[in-house]
Amino acid sequence: PTTAPLPPLTIALAGPRGFCAGVDRAIQIVERALQKFGAPVYVRHEIVHNRFVVDSLRAKGAVFVDDLAQCPADRPVIFSAHGVPKSVPAAAEARRMTWVDATCPLVSKVHMEAERHAEDHRQLILIGHAGHPEVIGTMGQVPDGAMLLVETVADAETVQPQDPAALAYVTQTTLSVDETADIVAVLRRRFPEIQGPRKEDICYATTNRQAAVKAMVEGCDAVLVIGAPNSSNSKRLVEVARNAGCSRSLLVQRAADIDWTQMDGIRRLGLTAGASAPELLVEEVIDACRERFAVTLEHVSVTEENVVFKLPAILADAPAAE
Ligand code: F3S
Repeated sequence: PTTAPLPPLTIALAGPRGFCAGVDRAIQIVERALQKFGAPVYVRHEIVHNRFVVDSLRAKGAVFVDDLAQCPADRPVIFSAHGVPKSVPAAAEARRMTWVDATCPLVSKVHMEAERHAEDHRQLILIGHAGHPEVIGTMGQVPDGAMLLVETVADAETVQPQDPAALAYVTQTTLSVDETADIVAVLRRRFPEIQGPRKEDICYATTNRQAAVKAMVEGCDAVLVIGAPNSSNSKRLVEVARNAGCSRSLLVQRAADIDWTQMDGIRRLGLTAGASAPELLVEEVIDACRERFAVTLEHVSVTEENVVFKLPAILADAPAAE
């Protein structure tokens, strides 16, 4: 019997995609801490928002907890890439724990900006999404209630700072570049004296991944973004693809999540991955497509990334994971 030939499918792969330098560093920190201290090593919050990454570190001896109180004082604890309120390392110090901070250096930079504005007696506005651990961490750099959260253009239109002449803003690192520009424009119009970063605090990885999606999306019948439902930068990639005109843009954790009925009849698929999604999951999706389509790969790259962050001093001598 002859089998029908598979329908053709071009997969446009966005570049850059997947792991950023902050995620790569955070994973290395957990792996090296396991080498240096042995298991178990505790990790407060998912080290990065990806179940696959978390499960593989758990298999090596990492224990993930929500709260520092769940960690025994005699085992090392690592703080996730998203950053933590100042109260968290302070509590670890008080219990004389060994702690390692895996906060991305680009998030720490925002923390330092916030601190500087607070020292200069400026009230702070944080542009970000309520409840995200990075937002909780950044708000926790200044005393409770000292930072106002603005999530949308509508919030920016109504926020009421105490003194518009003594005001500054910082942002979450994984926001939509376009939406944030609109929010900043409203704040600048309403509060001409507001101080802020030269552009915004959105990191290079977020910016590049969004630009790559915009370059890739043209002509795509569907877009798949590999990432976790709680991953801010991944969700933004889906929005960017939709706003660029591809209504069939979906977030999937891995190949097994794909609803193939939604892929019926497509000829061109855009594929990218959030900053916490391993390349292995991209390959898995391509392989799953190859079972159903005659796949041609096309690389749509907007820039090369070569950012690498140093490890914390406490782990500089620890061997790399095998
Ligand atoms: Fe850091 Fe940006 Fe990645 S803030 S963790 S480089 S997404």
